[in-house]
Amino acid sequence: MDALGQLAGGVAHDFNNILLAIAGYSHLLKNCVTSGDAREYVHELLECSQRASSLTQKLLAVSRQQRLEREQLNLNDLIEDMLRMIRRVLRGDVELHFRPDPNISPIHGDVGQLEQVLLNLCLNARDAMPDGGKINITTRSVHDGFDRSKELVVLSVADDGVGMDESTRQQAFEPFFTTKEKGKGTGLGLSTVYGIVKQHDGKIEIESAPQNGCKVDVYLPAGKGGAQPTKRPRSRPAARGGHERVLVIEDDGQLRRMIKRVLQLAGYDVQSAEVRHAMSSLGEQEQPQLVVLGSLDDHFCESLCGRLPIICISGPEACSRGAAPSTVIVLAKPFSPEDLLRAARDVLDKTTSLD
Ligand SMILES: Nc1ncnc2c1ncn2[C@@H]1O[C@H](COP(=O)(O)OP(=O)(O)OP(=O)(O)O)[C@@H](O)[C@H]1O
Ligand SMILES: [Mg+2]
Repeated sequence: MDALGQLAGGVAHDFNNILLAIAGYSHLLKNCVTSGDAREYVHELLECSQRASSLTQKLLAVSRQQRLEREQLNLNDLIEDMLRMIRRVLRGDVELHFRPDPNISPIHGDVGQLEQVLLNLCLNARDAMPDGGKINITTRSVHDGFDRSKELVVLSVADDGVGMDESTRQQAFEPFFTTKEKGKGTGLGLSTVYGIVKQHDGKIEIESAPQNGCKVDVYLPAGKGGAQPTKRPRSRPAARGGHERVLVIEDDGQLRRMIKRVLQLAGYDVQSAEVRHAMSSLGEQEQPQLVVLGSLDDHFCESLCGRLPIICISGPEACSRGAAPSTVIVLAKPFSPEDLLRAARDVLDKTTSLD
């Protein structure tokens, strides 16, 4: 199962770059076309890239390569906020009940990823009850069986559907395992859930028997750590451009050209290079005011971090060492041209205000 996950993750990584370029160019195209038909085709293109992107996100979650944005959060609040959305995807003959334990401790988790966990479990419960039934969501606290000092917060999703036999239960977390008919399920739901829970240092158990419903328990370590809960802004102002000198360093040619184009159209003065030519580009040309770093090696990153404002699009690890945090922004893939422009303005404005 781990090997399959690794394979899926490897493919997803490369695929993600291609998709980023497709989505980026489609966004740019949307602003150029005026005819009704052409706009509709571009809209379809964007929808397709959105679907493909959510599939690659699942594959990355399966292989535990998703970048988590963890914060301190209360699981009850997260569930409460999701209930209305979940009800919308259930059929009318499925009842949804939530019984929270008000005394559970906060956890240190990624809101978006944990929402995915809850949604996937509820969708599975719905599909297991073709003739209707009840879904019960509960929370509670328990002590870790191995270390009594550790507290775990448990999210349970139980249904009274068709249940599963032992062989299905054993395979349920395997990527692409599904008992649904062709076209109905990808078999990535529970493996995504498993990947996300593991990345949160948690564990997951299934209790089920044929015709006897199913209960999935997700155990997450209670813990403070991290920032206070933050409400994500619902609508953000349009991204502004600028005139600063930007150097884009990325090995994937299509992605590099797309990023360069987006920044140029927003008014920036952009140079670009592959990683192996980047150092010499830095030496030859006038010093850039911002570096957009894609594929990179450790050595290169170390020498740059702290010297220049950076947008890092290849994950946070490489840039964390020795960097002045306020001058490094990590832009998680996939991102839209708007996201990129916003990040560029953010990091440039921050740097100016520090001068
Ligand atoms: N609540 C449940 N009751 C009964 N069987 C379940 C339940 N949840 C999962 N299963 C079984 O586990 C299998 C794998 O679940 P998983 O969520 O990974 O994939 P899927 O639901 O088949 O497809 P997808 O989630 O991609 O739409 C399901 O096909 C089903 O056989
Ligand atoms: Mg599923």
